[in-house]
Amino acid sequence: MSQLFARKSVADFESDIAERGGLRRTLGKWHLTALGVGATIGAGIFATTGTAIVGDAARPGGGPAVIFSFLLTAVACGFAALCYAEFAAMVPVAGSAYTYAYAALGEFVAWIIGWDLIIEYAVGNIGVAIGWAGYFRELLNHFGLDLPAWLATDYRSAHDAFVAVGSGAAGATADPVRSYLASAWSNAPHLLGLPFIINLPAVAVVVAITIILVIGIKESANANNAMVLLKIGIIIFFIAVGAFLIKPSNWSNPETGGFAPNGFAGISAAAAIIFFAYIGFDAVSTAAEETKDAAHDMPFGIVMSLIITTVLYIAIAIVMTGIAPWKQLGTAEPMITALQYANGPPGLLNFARLIIALGAVFAMGSVLLVFQLGQPRIFFSMSRDGLLPPFLAKVHPRYQTPYVGTILTGAFVAFFAAFANIAEVVDLTNIGTLFAFVLVSAGVIVLRRTDADRPRPFRVPWVPITPLISIVACLYLMFQLPSLTWIRFAVWLVIGLVLYFAYGYRHSTLRRATVGSSSGTRRTH
Ligand code: ALA
Repeated sequence: MSQLFARKSVADFESDIAERGGLRRTLGKWHLTALGVGATIGAGIFATTGTAIVGDAARPGGGPAVIFSFLLTAVACGFAALCYAEFAAMVPVAGSAYTYAYAALGEFVAWIIGWDLIIEYAVGNIGVAIGWAGYFRELLNHFGLDLPAWLATDYRSAHDAFVAVGSGAAGATADPVRSYLASAWSNAPHLLGLPFIINLPAVAVVVAITIILVIGIKESANANNAMVLLKIGIIIFFIAVGAFLIKPSNWSNPETGGFAPNGFAGISAAAAIIFFAYIGFDAVSTAAEETKDAAHDMPFGIVMSLIITTVLYIAIAIVMTGIAPWKQLGTAEPMITALQYANGPPGLLNFARLIIALGAVFAMGSVLLVFQLGQPRIFFSMSRDGLLPPFLAKVHPRYQTPYVGTILTGAFVAFFAAFANIAEVVDLTNIGTLFAFVLVSAGVIVLRRTDADRPRPFRVPWVPITPLISIVACLYLMFQLPSLTWIRFAVWLVIGLVLYFAYGYRHSTLRRATVGSSSGTRRTH
């Protein structure tokens, strides 16, 4: 049993870095903030807000009260962010939650979290790729180009739109996006009696990003800064244009249920969906090894990126629900849809739609890049620790990139992006990431006991209360997700356990070093 919970001490990580030479420490606190904002603002705000507002077959929507959902999720993330900050300042090593779990909770939990992070990074990217494809299609439309719908959506979206249009559901026939998606169902070629529907743009963007990453893009902080400024600029543009178009009656229309049509149940269900929009501030911690003064800059970068995104998201939610009737916003491009239904000069609205589509394509492209870069690095750490096969740590002789892990990640993401439905992918990503937040928060409490004297440049206030609130808040959001999501998550974890006992348990470098010693930990410091 103690073998299973063998911990890799913080000092072990430090000596690993000393041996390997570590990475170049060049990033400051605003670089980290930019990194966090860059990794965060993407499909969550641009694409999934539609389901959060309107709901779906499995849950009620928040309606205009989605504004409070954004606040609720930000508070939950805030507590988790403090826990991430304590670890990132104390263990300034690449690997994020996987590394922290190895230090605090032992190898078995580290494996579970590493396996779980595949959901956050790779499955999350499936959702971002699908979101990207929706806005890309909108962009093509502006230039008079259109893909046949059956080459640009997924089976479930096409079927749902077909049913809505066929049944004459409110506004469905007049809605250009729904009619387009419905045409996928009616026009698709048939394979074995089933309509063949595939999301080609989503596949194409993943393939392109994978090629760039194998060749080895120099991830320059300046390029990221430019991308972040572009994102923020476009969002401020949306907020500024939208602010003049707000009709307060959209928030209070009694015919559509008023401000909070589904009460707190709707607000909570929406909060669990838009959690996706917040994922990314934790990715700041993956740059810990490249930070000049991790002790101080890490907590700043993590918390500041969360604050900036929260303010922007709440403003967007106010505008989106203020300029259009909320019931119309249930599309995969809700910001565009909101502008379609807004009352204003058609020329301005058309121009705004073009700018938003363009901005969204870049914004989501950068999220894709950061997460697609992160996943092979996590594989790399796990493989170096012996928990995954050595080929995942293979570096390309010419390009110096972990190319095997990068290509495998790309193939996995592209395959599912071709057929998956964004709402289902987002739910799975959220449950997995919330679970990682729970374990990191628990890790803070445990490490305060097991390694009480280690210097902590940043201390979460009121331990164990604060991490406990984080755990409860994340569990609460997890319970808002549909039961099918729980089943999928459980299956994923079971597959992970089988792999661990079949491979990682036998090959772990840490456990091999501890076999024969009476203590569970490799060294005591
Ligand atoms: N937060 C990231 C996004 O919304 C995952 O795209």
